[in-house]
Amino acid sequence: MTLINWTPEKQRAFTRENLVFTQNVADSPLFTEEALIELIDRYPRESLEIFTMGYDPTVFGEWYLGRRTTREGIELDGRALMEAVKHGRLWLNLRRVNHSDPAVGALCDQIFREVAEKTGTHNLKTDLGLLISSPNAHVVYHLDMPMVMLWQIRGVKKVCLYPADAGFFSDRQIEGIALRESDENLPYETAFDDKALIHDLKPGEMLTWPQNAPHRIVNGDMVNVSLSIEFMTPRALWHANVIYANGLLRRLFGLNPSLKRSPKILEPLKIVFARAYKLLKGGFKGHKSPLKACFSLDPKWPGTIVYDEGVKPFTLNRPMQAVPAASKRTRKRSDKAA
Ligand SMILES: [Fe+2]
Repeated sequence: MTLINWTPEKQRAFTRENLVFTQNVADSPLFTEEALIELIDRYPRESLEIFTMGYDPTVFGEWYLGRRTTREGIELDGRALMEAVKHGRLWLNLRRVNHSDPAVGALCDQIFREVAEKTGTHNLKTDLGLLISSPNAHVVYHLDMPMVMLWQIRGVKKVCLYPADAGFFSDRQIEGIALRESDENLPYETAFDDKALIHDLKPGEMLTWPQNAPHRIVNGDMVNVSLSIEFMTPRALWHANVIYANGLLRRLFGLNPSLKRSPKILEPLKIVFARAYKLLKGGFKGHKSPLKACFSLDPKWPGTIVYDEGVKPFTLNRPMQAVPAASKRTRKRSDKAA
């Protein structure tokens, strides 16, 4: 039995179109409540990422890193963290857990063996992030440099997917992400939703989209467990290196390259340039300042965010933006994809 339910059309369209699949991983014993608690406890302590966020998807930058300890430095274990997620507004990310956990690593390998067999692509840099997130938590509008498959294990999340070629981000912005000059978040306007594929991702489904397609996510009113699986195909890696080189040309030489307009014939030169720069200079040294942890948790009050002194988080009384329901058009596209 395969892990993903393929059709010949989807095999051909994989990595090139928005696609919704059904999958058989959601019921895996790896992801029961108790298994998740044990997985958190086995996962390297320093690698676990905890975030909270604001409420308005149009407000940029309300994404806060926290720590898994109380103010007094007492660590919350897996069970306490799961309680915090249930009652709070949190987003746990066990990044690259396939590299630290043999059972998850074996599942990830199996997924990519199947993807390679069905699509004929050779997949590189395969990373599986386990996301455990609170009811109604959201992730603001952003894009990822790698390809992504989003597997839903538990709960429902609304995924708004935007076309990568609709002009919803600038060349400078995507280059900044490739160069790690800025994080993945991008300014968002509600008008973008007119061109979005909006899909309620349910347990047993997997959604994947073309490289660099911007997206944002809003959880339903329940805990969500998802796998965010990133990978690169040779074509995606090539594209990422072209963006990287364009970013260098703009920042180091004042040029104005364009992903859409630049001649394809120059791309091999750009790849060599990007690779050489990474090798000789150790990569572009941008101005991205890493997020600093700014809140603690307390197992006595599950889900309560205890901000550090002087931290001014989001304003709760900002008007909230409603998430539009799937339009007829997008439903149709979604059904076709499914
Ligand atoms: Fe993403």
